[in-house]
Amino acid sequence: MRTPYIAGNWKMHMVKSEAVSLASELKSALAGVEHRVMIAPAFTLIESVAATLAGSNILVGAQNMAPAVSGAHTGEVSPGMLKDVGATVVILGHSERRNSYGESDQLINEKVSLALSEGLEVILCVGETLEEREAGAVDAVVRTQLAGGLNAIPESALSSITIAYEPVWAIGTGRTATPEDADAVHASVRTVLGDLYNDGAAQKMVIQYGGSVKPDNVDGLMGMKNIDGALVGGASLKADSFIPIVRFQR
Ligand code: PGA
Repeated sequence: MRTPYIAGNWKMHMVKSEAVSLASELKSALAGVEHRVMIAPAFTLIESVAATLAGSNILVGAQNMAPAVSGAHTGEVSPGMLKDVGATVVILGHSERRNSYGESDQLINEKVSLALSEGLEVILCVGETLEEREAGAVDAVVRTQLAGGLNAIPESALSSITIAYEPVWAIGTGRTATPEDADAVHASVRTVLGDLYNDGAAQKMVIQYGGSVKPDNVDGLMGMKNIDGALVGGASLKADSFIPIVRFQR
């Protein structure tokens, strides 16, 4: 009942020629795949990637967004600018934004709210650091991030939101949470969503796992009850690894 959703976060990689070449390879290799697929290139690549993917089943997203529609915000990119170049989705609250650029739950919440009101879909990322995991604080951290990020977001907007659970210690490290560990946190994400909204709404929400997802671990992860998709970093940069991830088998 929840459509699987695989997203590639290209982070700060590739120049235009490389991006267009990978996008056109994905376009033909993934034609006809029934899962939802999205790629999020750097801001400067969105327009050419969106043009390359026009008419395909692959969505284009951004990796961040300003918390404002226009004005004196040096270095920022607004939701209208993203839509103008072909993005329909935005990733918000990625741990690299939280940890390297000091984004708070309150700022992320402003962005979530604005993205939705401007008609963009959102992937809201949550996840604990290694210290938080070792301190037994996983559920508390995820609860705080969800309650903060979704503050004042109405239930009617949830169909435009995907949650990505990304344990920070598993991102770019080659260490993946075991399918069982990840599923346990996904189950508590769903419990928190049930508490914030209601059980019916929580059951409908797509929850992606992110953190060193690779062709050889995606089937195990996607086989779990509460894991509905993946947010893929490093392995989304090569057709050879992203295509088999999108084409996972349950
Ligand atoms: P990774 O990144 O797949 O390279 O671990 C995931 C992410 O940061 O979204």
